[in-house]
Amino acid sequence: MPAVLDDISTEILNLKKKIGATILAHYYQEGEIQELADITGDSLKLAREATKVDTPVIVFCGVLFMAETAKMLNPTKKVLLPDLKAGCSLVDSCPPDKLHRYQEMLRENGRKFQTVTYINSSAAVKALSDWVVTSGNAEEVVRKIPAEYEILFVPDKHLGRYLSEVTGRQMILWDGSCMVHEIFSVHDLVRMKKLHPGAQVIAHPECPKNILEHAEFIGGTEAMIKHVGSFKDPVEFIVATEPNMMWQLESRFKQHKYLPVPGITCACNKCPHMALNTLEKIRDCMKTGQPEILWQPEFDKAKEVLAKSLLNPPATKPHPQGD
Ligand code: 13P
Ligand code: SF4
Repeated sequence: MPAVLDDISTEILNLKKKIGATILAHYYQEGEIQELADITGDSLKLAREATKVDTPVIVFCGVLFMAETAKMLNPTKKVLLPDLKAGCSLVDSCPPDKLHRYQEMLRENGRKFQTVTYINSSAAVKALSDWVVTSGNAEEVVRKIPAEYEILFVPDKHLGRYLSEVTGRQMILWDGSCMVHEIFSVHDLVRMKKLHPGAQVIAHPECPKNILEHAEFIGGTEAMIKHVGSFKDPVEFIVATEPNMMWQLESRFKQHKYLPVPGITCACNKCPHMALNTLEKIRDCMKTGQPEILWQPEFDKAKEVLAKSLLNPPATKPHPQGD
C-alpha cells in the first residue's frame, strides 16, 4: 500500500475511534475501502448489520439507497455517505410518480397485484411497495406471495425475468436495469469460455438472459462467496459482476483464479456510482459530519416495508421524533 494511503488509512482509523463510527462497505467498493471496513457485505447483510450497530455514527461506503436503508432501519444513528451523488441507474429508472400512476392504472383495470421492489430503489418507491427484496432474499419472498396476486416487479427487468423463471410466477416487469450488469460483453464471455474450458462462469442475476445462459452459477454477491468457498481445490472462475467483487473473493479464497468479464464499452466495467467513494472522502465525511442522510417523510412508510421484508423478526428501532 503506498505511503499516502497508509497515512489516510491511519487518519480514518483514528477518526473512527474519536467520533464513534462503524464503517460498513459493500463488496463493490475498492479493495482499500473494504480492507478498512468493520463490516463488508451484500445489500441484505449490510441492511441487517446496520440494525445492530451500537456506535453513534455509521459511515456507509456504498450508494445512496443503501445508506438510506441503514438510516431507516437504525434511525437514531447519524448515517454518513462519503459522496451524496453516489446513486444507481436502477433507482433513476423508476420515478415514484410514474410507478404510482402505473399502479393506479392496474387497479382501475381490476388487476389484483402486489408490488415487489428491488432494494435498489428510492425510499418513495419503497413506500409504494408491498415488499422490498435484495438478490439474497427475492426468491424466498416471491414464493411466499399467494398465487391469487399478480406480481409487479420493479425496477430491475433482468432480476425480475430471472425470478419469474426460477419461481414460475408470471410478472409484470418494470423497464429498468443496472448500467454495469447490462453491458457485459457476451462476445468476450464466449471467447473466455473457449480459452478456459475448465472454468466456471458465476453471474449476478442483474445480468441479462444472454449472459445468464452461459453461467454455471447465478446468485447475488453473498451467494457467490458461499459458492466459491465451497470448492477446496483450485478452480478458475469467470466473474460476471462488478469487478471489485474479486478483491473479496481473492482475499478469502486464494487457491482459485478469477477472470473478470469485460464490458462492451469499458474493459474494467466498474460501477461509476460506487467509485465516487474514496478514502479521502471517507476521511472528510468523518471530519465534518457531512454529508449526512437526513430523515425524509417517505422514510416512515418505507421503513415498515423494509423491516417486514428483510428483518426476521421485524425489529426497527423507533425514530427519535416518535413516528
Ligand atoms: P447484492 O450485493 O445485494 O447482490 O447487490 C448487487 C448490487 O448491484 C448492489 O448495487
Ligand atoms: Fe446500481 Fe448497478 Fe451500481 Fe449496483 S452496480 S449501484 S445496481 S448501477
